[in-house]
Amino acid sequence: MSSVTPIKSAPSFRKTTDTFVAGAKTLPQRYFISPEVFAQELAKIFSRQWILVGHQSQIARPGDYFVSEVSGESLIVVRDKRGEIHGFYNVCRHRGSRLIENRNGQLSAAIQCPYHAWTYAFDGRLIGAPHMDDVPGFNKTEYSLHPVNVGLWEGFIFVNLADASAQRGGYISLNEWFVPLTGKFSRWNLPALRPAKRIEYDVRANWKLIFQNYSECYHCPGVHPELSKISPYDSSENDLTEGPFLGGLMRIASDKSLTMSGRTCALPVGDFGNEDFRFVFYYSIFPNMLLSLHPDYVMVHQLQPQSPERTLILCDWFFHPEAFERQDFRPEDAIEFWDMVNRQDWHVCELSQQGIASRTYQPGPYSSRESIPAAWDRYYHWRLDS
Ligand code: FES
Ligand SMILES: [Fe+2]
Repeated sequence: MSSVTPIKSAPSFRKTTDTFVAGAKTLPQRYFISPEVFAQELAKIFSRQWILVGHQSQIARPGDYFVSEVSGESLIVVRDKRGEIHGFYNVCRHRGSRLIENRNGQLSAAIQCPYHAWTYAFDGRLIGAPHMDDVPGFNKTEYSLHPVNVGLWEGFIFVNLADASAQRGGYISLNEWFVPLTGKFSRWNLPALRPAKRIEYDVRANWKLIFQNYSECYHCPGVHPELSKISPYDSSENDLTEGPFLGGLMRIASDKSLTMSGRTCALPVGDFGNEDFRFVFYYSIFPNMLLSLHPDYVMVHQLQPQSPERTLILCDWFFHPEAFERQDFRPEDAIEFWDMVNRQDWHVCELSQQGIASRTYQPGPYSSRESIPAAWDRYYHWRLDS
């Protein structure tokens, strides 16, 4: 095993005792294959929680937009001329047409429906509706786009489809939701980072298997030989062990980076000073974000469940904004490495999905190295049943 720098200090990190519950088992089969459970998840989790849809740098200029899918709904996320970010259902108020078909782009002045050219401002107001003045009682102010709640956390854009004005339904503001993580990631400069690459993966596995797989390194020696050489699989220490945010750190071998070449590929992403910063932090943010914080880049997985047996995964790599101009910037070194590791992961997730669908599958016992997947399941149950 390669030499490992002892952990000197990891600021913002306080190790807690993992709450391993002996006897904890994987979820029953229906949670991975049943359309009814999947419909319940969309209604109770993906339509009520804060869902990651992107990063503010992906719509940097006024008129920049992207379209995202949340809980089976198509949403438009757009930046207005004052720099504010808005979210709307991608549904025209006239006869319901999809407004935008592209995945992303820039709008010059407004959102115009391709069907009969009703036109909406970036704040959702209907500002043009040809020939509607002749219609008695028609009032443009009553036909704004249907908004969705939008919030920013550390530069990442989240939406929430719950009715924020309703007293019931358990809606909590984005700020309240992220209170447990306040200040935790400030040294990584997440709001300022810029993306270098996105890869989309269409994975034939239930979305929960992706979380459970991300949350343990029990599988690393066999599945990820390259990763295990640079970051020993048994070096993990968790500091978030219960609730919607779970994870902790792993060590990186001395003088190494998690890249194909094993060398650092960009300017440090965070303010680490002269510190010998040899940690990678892995956190799952319920219910659709995986946040991996490296010294020289940040990788984010965004999950979009498509069916009980299929998940679309968008993986983005972010770097320090000044890294892009430098000679020593080699983002592909990290991207290639994780594209390899991602595919290794998706493959075992797909194998799990196939085996779980068998009539012989029974929940199996979690090991002591799987305390985080077990904690994830507990929180999932709590959300689904509440
Ligand atoms: S459906 Fe959009 S303008 Fe008619
Ligand atoms: Fe893995």
